[in-house]
Amino acid sequence: MRLVVLGANGQIGRELTRSLTPLGDVVALDRAGCDLARLDMIPGVVHNTRPDVLVNAAGYTAVDKAETDEALATLVNGTAPGVIAHEARKVGALLVHYSTDYVFDGAKAAPYVEDDPPSPLNAYGRGKLAGERAIGAAGGDHLILRTSWVFAARGHNFLRTMLRLARERDELRVVSDQVGAPTWARDIADATAEVIRLAQRERGGRQFNSELLHMTAAGAASWHGFAQAIFDGASDRIASRPTLRAIATEDFPTPARRPKNSQLCCDRLRERFGVTLPQWTSGLERCLADLRADAKEP
Ligand SMILES: NC(=O)c1ccc[n+]([C@@H]2O[C@H](COP(=O)([O-])OP(=O)(O)OC[C@H]3O[C@@H](n4cnc5c(N)ncnc54)[C@H](OP(=O)(O)O)[C@@H]3O)[C@@H](O)[C@H]2O)c1
Repeated sequence: MRLVVLGANGQIGRELTRSLTPLGDVVALDRAGCDLARLDMIPGVVHNTRPDVLVNAAGYTAVDKAETDEALATLVNGTAPGVIAHEARKVGALLVHYSTDYVFDGAKAAPYVEDDPPSPLNAYGRGKLAGERAIGAAGGDHLILRTSWVFAARGHNFLRTMLRLARERDELRVVSDQVGAPTWARDIADATAEVIRLAQRERGGRQFNSELLHMTAAGAASWHGFAQAIFDGASDRIASRPTLRAIATEDFPTPARRPKNSQLCCDRLRERFGVTLPQWTSGLERCLADLRADAKEP
């Protein structure tokens, strides 16, 4: 099987390159290999790489910047996925694509299910929702995996920001009224590999249905609770632990509005593929162990 990964330099993309290797030949393309802002580049890339499975882990992920850069965010997150899906269909490839909890407004009192009506609060969420719809409209075999609050040992993420700020500040104010599931990129990549393995089997038996599925770690936390767990787990890396203060969203204004409830119900993923991601606390523990191992390398 030939698997092509777009966005191979991102948090999820880097982990996918590793997790997908047991399934076949992996072709990992970074932005230079396939720039989604250049729609004319996409057909040639798909045609030349001839994937059986195409995984799109590329995305415009700067949520606040997207507010003033919506045209580019929408091109990359909304339009390009439709072109990718169209090209994947032409070569008979399964398209796996990632979307986000930010398609919801967060007003629901329980975890969101796939059929809940989306209502994004920000430009990033609007672009991602457009991407989901464009993939559906292309009509090829696809799986859209909505995930949330991704962290990894490398890249831009909350875990790394907290570890840096802990070295720079005595006190940190962190929002405690937004709740979601912090999800380790490696757990997403491993779960994606299993989903692809089973989906390809379904396709072989002509029993495959394209679907939108929620895929996050189990459990939930606020950003404040996540920060607390990071400082508990990384106490060996932090010389003097800063005081953590819980604040309300209103006290930490950002260009993009964010949902208060980001929790996604992942029952459908479990029911179809038997896949459940570990608790977010377990992902954090293993990611911190990875960071420690990296630090020990000469
Ligand atoms: N991060 C989260 O919390 C989160 C939550 C829910 C869903 N998601 C979704 O999960 C997917 C992967 O996210 P991630 O956390 O791995 O993001 P990430 O670490 O920011 O990686 C995104 C990758 O996309 C690449 N990229 C950006 N613009 C591109 C373009 N025009 N053409 C080609 N590549 C481009 C970036 O390339 P460079 O390395 O060159 O910048 C980067 O390697 C995205 O679809 C995202 O929307 C993420």
